[in-house]
Amino acid sequence: MIHGLYDVIHRRRDVRAEFTGEPVAPEVLDRILTAAHAAPSVGLSQPWDFVLIRSEPVRKAFHEHVRTERDVFAATLSGAAAERFARIKIDGVLEAGLSIVVTYDPARGGPAVLGRHAIADAGLYSVCLAIQNLWLAATAEDLGVGWVSFYREDFLQELLGIPSGIRPVAWLCVGPVSHLEQVPDLERHGWRQRRPVTDAIHEDRWAG
Ligand SMILES: Cc1cc2nc3c(=O)[nH]c(=O)nc-3n(C[C@H](O)[C@H](O)[C@H](O)COP(=O)(O)O)c2cc1C
Repeated sequence: MIHGLYDVIHRRRDVRAEFTGEPVAPEVLDRILTAAHAAPSVGLSQPWDFVLIRSEPVRKAFHEHVRTERDVFAATLSGAAAERFARIKIDGVLEAGLSIVVTYDPARGGPAVLGRHAIADAGLYSVCLAIQNLWLAATAEDLGVGWVSFYREDFLQELLGIPSGIRPVAWLCVGPVSHLEQVPDLERHGWRQRRPVTDAIHEDRWAG
């Protein structure tokens, strides 16, 4: 079912616990990847690639690594923050049957990437736009997506055989869900509140 754009933007959630484990239909996967690939990119470089991961051994190996990195972060916390973090689930790697790793190739479209000469990060921004397109398209298809960033890039490069120079940008868990929560998990668990949009808007000059 296709929802209106604003409805999709506001229904989108980062999903960890709600994956059902059912597969993603091939034609649906094709639509969400085609939506990702339609994103704008600096110099029309389209610097992204999508590694589709269904292998259970690969997902298990990644999940072990994520657990280790979770512990690394947990060790930096104390008191109430440590207690709150202990209750927060940070991934659905084992629960979702499909993961998509999105990568960035800075050499794509080079050496003269139009619009990137002064801002090297513009290539990474482009990859993030592809990810957001994927996320919104998946939401429109009633799928859930969960972004996992508790990993070291060199570990993931090695695990997936990603050539050196190409950076993994996101591990995305993707799949059917029981439901999408209305409030972000981090807010529900008291980790952090969303700030009002009025606080993010400045007139003519940075204020506050
Ligand atoms: C770059 C990036 C990395 C993220 N990494 C993680 C992660 O490792 N684990 C996790 O549970 N959520 C992760 N998230 C999801 C955020 O926690 C989530 O987007 C935020 O709390 C707002 O919730 P919502 O996406 O449901 O609106 C990540 C999101 C982004 C954009």
